Amino acid sequence: MSTSGFEARPSANPLDAALRNEILANPGFGRYFTDHMVHVRWTKATGWQRGELKPYGPLMIDPASPVLHYGQEIFEGIKAYRHADGSVWTFRPEKNAARFRASARRLALPELDDETFLGSLKTLVAQDAEWVPTPKNDAEECSLYLRPFMIGNGKSLGVKPAAEVDYYLIASPAASYFKGGGKPVSIWLSQHYNRAAPGGTGAAKCGGNYAASLLAQAEAEAHGCDQVAFLDAAENKWIEELGGMNLFFVYRDGRLVTPALTGTILEGVTRDSILELARDEGLTPEERPISIDEWRDGVASGEIVEVFACGTAAVITQIGQLVTEEDRIVTPEAGAEAVSGKLRKRLLDIQYGRAEDSRGWLMQL
Ligand code: COI
Repeated sequence: MSTSGFEARPSANPLDAALRNEILANPGFGRYFTDHMVHVRWTKATGWQRGELKPYGPLMIDPASPVLHYGQEIFEGIKAYRHADGSVWTFRPEKNAARFRASARRLALPELDDETFLGSLKTLVAQDAEWVPTPKNDAEECSLYLRPFMIGNGKSLGVKPAAEVDYYLIASPAASYFKGGGKPVSIWLSQHYNRAAPGGTGAAKCGGNYAASLLAQAEAEAHGCDQVAFLDAAENKWIEELGGMNLFFVYRDGRLVTPALTGTILEGVTRDSILELARDEGLTPEERPISIDEWRDGVASGEIVEVFACGTAAVITQIGQLVTEEDRIVTPEAGAEAVSGKLRKRLLDIQYGRAEDSRGWLMQL
């Protein structure tokens, strides 16, 4: 059932404009949230009910709910971009809506129809439009990060899908995800922990996958690294993805290689967009298995000239080195003229309305 049209219950105490502007000047990532959120409730008996826009605040979660005991949760990450004329746009949201439905199926949650999903984005951004940052120049990467999520709620300790479910949308002004703001990052190779296994939930965007990455991420930070890279669980040989981002390798001969989607890797919207944009840049995209030995040997021989991470939060971020228990695989720093720099500029120019959106990827909010 579609629930277009959200009941509006605006906050009586929105944050003071001066404080909001102070936050927007230096938002970091995921630290501050806007004045409102969207909520849509589903029960087995009623299906999806009419949604509401209400003040941002704590949730009512039953202490015996499936989300707390069995991790029945999914989420998405999308950004709203302010263009030079003041209008606000988002990028390929129908891909996030479809992935959210796929994640819901995998986690035995009810699917939310695309009209409600997209309507929730429009409703929240229209209400909290003043929270969408305005970039000061073409290099500044600031946006309003939108975080839709769905949880299994209700009193139910039996291991079964929730009969009461809540969908929420919250929003957070964001600068670049990594503290270095665009500088190449260091990656730690997880050699003892895997993120996902065949038949598991690796392709779903569910909290459990990220919970499973946290110990390895802590190991990465203990080794001075920004992020962790995971190998496949079956052979510990094939590169899968980072804790929250996909990976790409640029070859000297113009090939652009990314691990193939095997059911254990998240089907990133940025990943898909890069594969499309690559051809415009004269690159030859390849989706195929790539082993850790190929990464090591390719960098050593000079065949692999750039490695980068990508995602909604990370956009495109160069990887300077991979640190393993045995060695360091260092990729020489590539300038803005390098492939990753060009792809990053091309993507951001489309998202911020500075380049023609020939593929119809933008949706006005
Ligand atoms: C995103 O890029 O939107 C993600 O979901 C990654 C994240 C967990 C920061």
